[in-house]
Amino acid sequence: MKNFTITVDADGIALVSFDVPGRTMNTFTDSAVADLDLLVERIRADGAIKGAVLASGKANAFCAGADLGELGETAGGQAKGATLAAALPVTSRMSRALRALETVGKPVAAALEGLALGGGFEFALAAHRRVAARGVKVGLPEVTIGLLPGAGGTQRTTRLAGPRKALDFMLGGKPMDAETAQSIGLVDEVVEPGEAVEVAKAWIRNGGEGVQPWDVKGYRMEHGPYTPAGSGVFMLAAAQVQAKGMHNYPAQENIARCVYEGYGLPMDAALRVEARLFLATQQTPQARAMIRSLFVSKQANAKGAGRPEGVPPSKVTKAAVLGAGMMGAGIAFAQARAGIETVLIDTSQEAADKGRAYSEAIVEKAVSRGTMTREEADALIARILATTDYEAIAGADLVVEAVFEDRGLKADVTVRAEAVLASEAVFASNTSTLPITGLAQASKRPANFIGIHFFSPVDRMELVEIIVGKETSTETLAKAVDYCKQLKKVPIVVNDSRGFYTSRVFDSYLREGFEMLMEGIAPAIIDNVGRMTGMPRGPLELTDDVAIDLVDKVARQARVDMGLGEPSGGSDKMLIDLVAADRLGRKNAKGFYDYPKGEPKRLWSGLAEMFPVKVAKSDPELLEKLKRRFLYRQAVETARCLDEGVLTSARDADVGAILGWGFATWTGGPASLIDMVGVARFVEECDALAEELGDRFAPPALLRRMAEQGDSFYPAPKPLEAAA
Ligand code: NAI
Repeated sequence: MKNFTITVDADGIALVSFDVPGRTMNTFTDSAVADLDLLVERIRADGAIKGAVLASGKANAFCAGADLGELGETAGGQAKGATLAAALPVTSRMSRALRALETVGKPVAAALEGLALGGGFEFALAAHRRVAARGVKVGLPEVTIGLLPGAGGTQRTTRLAGPRKALDFMLGGKPMDAETAQSIGLVDEVVEPGEAVEVAKAWIRNGGEGVQPWDVKGYRMEHGPYTPAGSGVFMLAAAQVQAKGMHNYPAQENIARCVYEGYGLPMDAALRVEARLFLATQQTPQARAMIRSLFVSKQANAKGAGRPEGVPPSKVTKAAVLGAGMMGAGIAFAQARAGIETVLIDTSQEAADKGRAYSEAIVEKAVSRGTMTREEADALIARILATTDYEAIAGADLVVEAVFEDRGLKADVTVRAEAVLASEAVFASNTSTLPITGLAQASKRPANFIGIHFFSPVDRMELVEIIVGKETSTETLAKAVDYCKQLKKVPIVVNDSRGFYTSRVFDSYLREGFEMLMEGIAPAIIDNVGRMTGMPRGPLELTDDVAIDLVDKVARQARVDMGLGEPSGGSDKMLIDLVAADRLGRKNAKGFYDYPKGEPKRLWSGLAEMFPVKVAKSDPELLEKLKRRFLYRQAVETARCLDEGVLTSARDADVGAILGWGFATWTGGPASLIDMVGVARFVEECDALAEELGDRFAPPALLRRMAEQGDSFYPAPKPLEAAA
């Protein structure tokens, strides 16, 4: 065995230490799964072993789950010539090995001193007892990347926690702490940190039995689907799947099927049901796309995939933030947390202090929750100097400006900052809409000028959009990527253009909603369909959140920049009219919706006068068409960004869309969506939409070329039969 070591104590209890060599974290690699067979055989055959305790050789974790790196390569059809089919036996092999473990005939206990997720928790679930240290997180998050627990997880949780709680646990995919897991029956005992192994051993010494409840003759699960109590649960499951993912996620449906179909079967048969549904799920394009974008690509970006080669690594030790408003305060916190000495500047001391108070509030909360020590909190705050004095910037490696979205003001602070900055320092703008090349005109050193576009709220949003201006140097780009890595953000790198990538394509989603409204489609249908596509919110409610006048202001600026006059119609005119009617959005409680105090929002009654409803009833055909409009509009706009060189990779397109504005996760992102549809078919359908609705759907040359050549953005996975 390469991944497990065994030491047998005087009582005959084998301590199995899971310790994948050369890694900081245990994962179930092919090699670790292969070892499981040997492990079970050793426990079975070694007469000196009376029972076994499964523990981890890593300091803070038991096991993070399947090795997604290996799975991702096969799922994405990339690299190493691996095939999807090659990965399949790994999971079923693991499932069989864990079944052998729980029927080994000797008591086995899992001692969890740290995180046990996915396959790691499934390993523990196959033990006859689970002892976990207080606060340890356990979970089956497979659903979040389009998979289901395929090594017995769906069956053992159902039998331990009952179908309803098991479904909640698996459909949500959120890890829970040991105490909560104990309360639903997934953990047997919670102990103080450091005691799990001893308590697990004691359980064996005291006669703990090596038989699972479901292997005892006469075992019956309570609350079966055909009992009065159980039928409700199973009926609700369908509604639960609908609410969670609008039936866009095969994994969610198949988890519910695993629970339903495996229910009441003997374990061996139940595991075969799970294996079949795992296989079906893993082969769906949704699972492949989600693993690729949410895991493989995201990790590549986090590691700096967009960084130019040949530039030595850099580190920011001191950085300034200009503007201590909502964004500036968030950026200052991110920097201070990363250990960067931060100067936070605003026009008044009061405003600067208020920006720093944002960090103070966060760390106070962390201290009161026990996730941060008082010393750490104090040190973090001490790293933020709140001031009005631009001289304090001297010595900074990098400056981010986050003042009002005003070109003149941004030019002014650029000049003032550069007056004290060292010549090699980077000046970054957090603008969300103003082209970087234009802003760089105010700079004496446009080569050092770059866009670093954070998302709000800064401490929760992982994505950062780095924008390369016409004169931005490769050194500056490399430094910006290094800075994002320091902040533990996930950067994508795009070239300068109006709205860059994320704002531009996000805007196209809102605009398609406006078009529908102007066509007379009932606003309730518009927002519902938006959510049905897998977008987190409908376009109208989203516009209310962003603020209608802000969307209008950006459009005005764009018209000025492009030398266009006042619009006589279309969505720009619609925005102007709404603002004139004082419909600004959630911020003044008057937008597409009204926001009466203490009550849920409701559609503004005046909307029907402005946009008389012509389509008030939806049928499946209409819904499908509207869904397609929302998704294809964004996908076409993304393809244009690729065509124009605003984006340079499908990877950035997909990671940016999902992390930036919550683009329908089940698709893996807009580029993955086009692949999923098939480029040729996508082009054909867009041509039809363009013919009917206008040029906004017209596919760019890039897509036509790809369609002609039979290309796709990502290599196609090899067919299943191709594997030996
Ligand atoms: P904000 O209005 O909350 O903050 C702007 C701050 O800049 C104010 O505190 C203001 O006093 C300060 N300021 C004005 N003139 C200054 C000067 N000469 N020197 C120093 N400070 C000055 O605005 P917010 O939302 O933080 O946005 C800032 C920038 O970030 C804008 O360019 C915006 O487009 C961009 N952005 C905003 C996002 C958002 O969701 N709000 C997302 C991404 C970018």
